[in-house]
Amino acid sequence: MTTPAETTPGGRFSIVALQKRDHERLEELLDELASAPDATARSRTLGQIARLVFPHAFAEESLLWPVVRRTVPFGEALTSGVEQEHQEVNELWRRLETLHHPDDLDEDHQALLARLAEVLREDVRDEEDRILPRLEETLSPAQLRMIGVGWEVLRRTAPSRPHPVVSRRPPGNVLAAVPLTVLDRSRDVLDEVSLRSSRLAGVCRGASARLGEVAARVERIGVLREGETVETRRTPGTGRIRFVGGAPDKTPPGPV
Ligand SMILES: [Fe+2]
Ligand SMILES: [Fe+2]
Repeated sequence: MTTPAETTPGGRFSIVALQKRDHERLEELLDELASAPDATARSRTLGQIARLVFPHAFAEESLLWPVVRRTVPFGEALTSGVEQEHQEVNELWRRLETLHHPDDLDEDHQALLARLAEVLREDVRDEEDRILPRLEETLSPAQLRMIGVGWEVLRRTAPSRPHPVVSRRPPGNVLAAVPLTVLDRSRDVLDEVSLRSSRLAGVCRGASARLGEVAARVERIGVLREGETVETRRTPGTGRIRFVGGAPDKTPPGPV
């Protein structure tokens, strides 16, 4: 029996098939998050979402969107819209990390989680309904497969945490990849141990927090903002989120 991925032009390693695979997994995890019975289950599911979403988005921003801008009509407008969504996810997640009582599901916390799920779903819809079909029309199956393989390699070696200060575009985000990947993935291991072992939880959480401070200093290295656009620039000094809902219409001009 053939699977949908096998009938996609370019097969199961096509960028379209690989994107849909991750998007479906994200939907499953968002459902799990909504029904998490307690704070531990919520933390674990949020960790899984971060490890899925941030490398996925990083590989889009550094490899896939530049291809879309070069090859697809109105690629600039299309990719600018999803980069704003990615930026908002980064800022929401950073706020989630700084909540004083992460175990307490108060109103602020609920509002952040609800908005996060909403933006992630908007991002998936924009990509699946507006960008990927145009990419399929423009590129050959072999090109879709080549981009898919490159994207998958990048995804497996990309940062796995929010970095709202780093540019959403090359070259800044590409330069940030190596140091932030090492720091993020070390923190992932420490956080996983802290969830599994109450004996080591304090030490691991402390070490993870210190690595987080190092990552925050790395993020602020000026060259890592190279390539940034006005639309995705973080609101300076306020730490406030600019909701994408207030952004101009994301429909590309003219017939597409
Ligand atoms: Fe995606
Ligand atoms: Fe995305």
